[in-house]
Amino acid sequence: MPQNRFAEVRRFESIDSTNRYLLDEARAGAAEGVVAVADHQTAGRGRLGRSWEAPPGANLLLSVLLRPALDPADRHLATTAVALAAVDAIGALGIGSVQGTRDGRESGPSTPRAVGIKWPNDLVDGSGRKLAGVLAETDLLPVAGSGGLPAPIVVGIGINVNWPAGDADLPPELRGLAVSLRMLAGAPVDREALLDGLLAALDPRTAELGTPAGRQRLSRGLAAACTTIGTRVRVDLTDSSFEGTATGISPEGHLIVTSDGDTKTVVAGDVVHLRPTA
Ligand code: BTN
Repeated sequence: MPQNRFAEVRRFESIDSTNRYLLDEARAGAAEGVVAVADHQTAGRGRLGRSWEAPPGANLLLSVLLRPALDPADRHLATTAVALAAVDAIGALGIGSVQGTRDGRESGPSTPRAVGIKWPNDLVDGSGRKLAGVLAETDLLPVAGSGGLPAPIVVGIGINVNWPAGDADLPPELRGLAVSLRMLAGAPVDREALLDGLLAALDPRTAELGTPAGRQRLSRGLAAACTTIGTRVRVDLTDSSFEGTATGISPEGHLIVTSDGDTKTVVAGDVVHLRPTA
């Protein structure tokens, strides 16, 4: 395990949800950096109230407890830091080379973009199949006994490592929509090596949350890895939706979409890729 702020790794053979566990620990005053990793979750949580399921022992299911001193408007970048660390770790295993570098500079058009980030934080392969999902949960209320610690953000990530082994493992409605590292690598992938790499990458990525320049580097990193840019998108907001072309990521990490000659900045919402632009 890396000797950095993510050195305290608590392992569970089975738990309801690593996010639920760390939120409870945070309420009880746990410090930044605690990591929870599960072989299996019985009530894994996904975005938008969905569940997150994976067979026991196949995938990487983990949550980290962060306590960044961030304005509420910047807290979404904690999720970006985790998604980027996962992209870093997958690249370090030699699976899915990604356009762009750690500081957000483009590495050149000849570099294939096999694994990237669908804004805001799904990891996808070059065909847009989902490889991992990230769910941040927070607790902004002051908690007795937390000793004035900054409010916690628990960021959970589920990475499809060895499941599915192929499309046939997936329920029919997910075939062609989800993928695993094993499918991309053509062989089983070592979950421990991926965990080590992710926690090592997470330390510098989360350190970036602490300064304005660091936060801008995270946004540039997101822009470099973002597969949404250049595609037609439909942005589903709470009570409306619009279509346009995603053209970039703002310095704050928001998605910039051009629609009917207007440039709109999307702060939160569910972005559905329609098709790549010509
Ligand atoms: C999504 O819906 O895309 C987000 C899925 C996040 C799943 C991970 S698995 C580890 C952590 N614990 C949970 O209960 N959920 C997250």
